[in-house]
Amino acid sequence: MKYYPPSNHIYYENSDVPINNLEIKELEILTEIEKELLVRAYEKLHNELNENIEFDEKYLCKVHETIFTPLYTWAGKYRTVNISKDESMFCPYLNLDSFSKEIFIKLRNDNFLKNYEDISRKSEFIDKLSFYICELNVLHPFNEGNGRALRLFFDMIVTYNGYEYINYEEALKNNEYINASIDCMIAECEKIKNIITRGL
Ligand SMILES: Nc1ncnc2c1ncn2[C@@H]1O[C@H](COP(=O)(O)OP(=O)(O)OP(=O)(O)O)[C@@H](O)[C@H]1O
Ligand SMILES: [Mg+2]
Repeated sequence: MKYYPPSNHIYYENSDVPINNLEIKELEILTEIEKELLVRAYEKLHNELNENIEFDEKYLCKVHETIFTPLYTWAGKYRTVNISKDESMFCPYLNLDSFSKEIFIKLRNDNFLKNYEDISRKSEFIDKLSFYICELNVLHPFNEGNGRALRLFFDMIVTYNGYEYINYEEALKNNEYINASIDCMIAECEKIKNIITRGL
């Protein structure tokens, strides 16, 4: 989905196709390639999971970079423009670094959510996941691909704890995920929590 206002010059003129290394101008073809890249990134990052991993800011950038580096020069890099979608204005780019630090300090203090293997802690795990998904939705640190990068990031966290990837299929199909994301803008995580509860 294209971002407004169009001061964000990552798109080819008069189009919603992001300027890419392969100079592909057809959105359908680019979408197919992105799908393939996403699958490969899942495999690579899954294979690299280990006990010493830290799900920090650097890791989030690595996730985005791993998916999108064949296509975009800004893969893995925080954006340098303000962006919004419909009524939602994401974190101003000048505050990205400081807000990101705040979120990731909290996540570090929560031990990067690395100790939730025990099923007795599942409900607390869902609360924590929902909180951080909400916060990082509002941050929206990248030009594009925030949704996919975040889902992959949290899928690695749940995998680390012995769970399968979160199933977002239904929520993505019927706009529930978008509506939940809109609520995140006012720090209302209940809809995200419903999605995670069903999908985990
Ligand atoms: N109106 C909105 N208000 C707040 N958040 C929104 C809105 N519309 C979409 N979002 C969030 O933005 C994400 C999409 O961001 P972006 O386009 O950068 O990522 P993507 O990976 O290309 O998209 P997708 O999640 O659809 O695969 C959605 O997943 C959703 O979380
Ligand atoms: Mg998008």
